[in-house]
Amino acid sequence: MHSAIGSRKDFSNLDEDQLLAEYKECLEGILDHEQVRKLDLHTQHCNTSRLQHSINVSYYSFLICRKFGWDYRSAARAGLLHDLYFYDWRVTKYLRSGHASWHPRVALDNARKITELNKVEIDAIEKHMWPCTPVPPRYIESYVITFVDKTCAVFEFTERKCAQIAETLTQMFRRSYAS
Ligand SMILES: [Fe+2]
Ligand SMILES: [Fe+2]
Repeated sequence: MHSAIGSRKDFSNLDEDQLLAEYKECLEGILDHEQVRKLDLHTQHCNTSRLQHSINVSYYSFLICRKFGWDYRSAARAGLLHDLYFYDWRVTKYLRSGHASWHPRVALDNARKITELNKVEIDAIEKHMWPCTPVPPRYIESYVITFVDKTCAVFEFTERKCAQIAETLTQMFRRSYAS
């Protein structure tokens, strides 16, 4: 499994860490589902696959909701499923303009096919693009997902750029110390 962006934890064996084991338990039945795994074949932001992005949103939403005593299981599940769609909006021309409002409904339909969703999960998936979509979320967990989704997108977009800047700075320091 991909590690969540920015996390130092080793996601390759979730059972070896108490927190990750708890996270894994929340995702029982969907984490290894073929449809979820298929998300790895689709690009979400720059070099980030849609599965990686979904894990990022799922894990950090889980952490925030767990910290504040909210419904972290629903947050983890909705985070993993919130972008469960398989088209590429960049090439599917007629979807470009309506992608922001269209893909949450597609993801919700697809998620319902693989697991039974509770009302928090439905709300969080359906409204994760708010405020790009007009109807605001109903539950605190849904707000967490909309916030984490946008934050992760920023980090995913800038991750490569930041790595390049860090590399350039490192080389500059090395050169100045060598001379
Ligand atoms: Fe989305
Ligand atoms: Fe997303």
